[in-house]
Amino acid sequence: MSGIEIKSAREIDAMRASCQMAAETLVLVGEKLRAGMTTEEINTIVHEDTIRRGATPSPLNYHGFPKSVCTSVNEVVCHGIPGPYVLVNGDIINVDVTTYYGGFHGDTSATFFIGTPSPEARHVTDVARRALDIGIEQVREGARIGDIGAAIEEYVHAQGCGVVRDYVGHGIGRKFHTDPQVPHYKIARTAPNPRMKAGMIFTIEPMVNLGGWEVELDASDKWTVRTKDRKLSAQFEHTVLVTRTGCEVLTKRAKLLKHSEERDLFTELT
Ligand code: MF3
Ligand code: CO
Ligand code: CO
Repeated sequence: MSGIEIKSAREIDAMRASCQMAAETLVLVGEKLRAGMTTEEINTIVHEDTIRRGATPSPLNYHGFPKSVCTSVNEVVCHGIPGPYVLVNGDIINVDVTTYYGGFHGDTSATFFIGTPSPEARHVTDVARRALDIGIEQVREGARIGDIGAAIEEYVHAQGCGVVRDYVGHGIGRKFHTDPQVPHYKIARTAPNPRMKAGMIFTIEPMVNLGGWEVELDASDKWTVRTKDRKLSAQFEHTVLVTRTGCEVLTKRAKLLKHSEERDLFTELT
């Protein structure tokens, strides 16, 4: 038995709407990114686009988070706070958009290249993108939550990268973060490992490090998470619905992301 919520058809429709808003805002951000821009300007774009839609940015004031979006640059793993930092050529940046609309949250993120990435930056970003796809491929009724992390970890390690253990995917709906926890690593045989059922909705959001998996929380702002070895980290996130035969990616984008090279998904366009 598990207490993971099974959404009704109406709740699923509402989740489609909030997730599509988050996806569209993320596409918009990708189109506006450039060297010379501050992460504060990204916050303004996300905030204004969300409000314009009659929605609310979920991060703002969430457990005291001070901004409307997370912007995580280079060695920042997640929960970067937008501010005066000016993006420079070669940076990678994860922008994590969560939109609250019609009583439901939709959560999605991507890592973007500012100008030309180094081979290392490209590698860690490509591995993170593929890791999310591999996680999504495990989703179907009857599979176990643990199958997701097992497949992701095997792939990420084979690429010579580390996968973060301190932060996991999560159930989502009327609440931003709820059951189940969705680890991106292989869990112990004794750990809880619920079966997926049609109507469950959760995120998959692997954080992939170029070096080790260890992370550190910023002692002064208590939000910014960095790699312990200060090597690069990249992340992609989707909100997914479990179906009888597989899954529906609720935050699937109608358009290719600019500055993020989604080659695997859109080979026909490249
Ligand atoms: N969007 C993040 C996630 O994927 C959570 C951000 S919480 C915040 O779960 F407070 F930092 F916004
Ligand atoms: Co999330
Ligand atoms: Co997110």
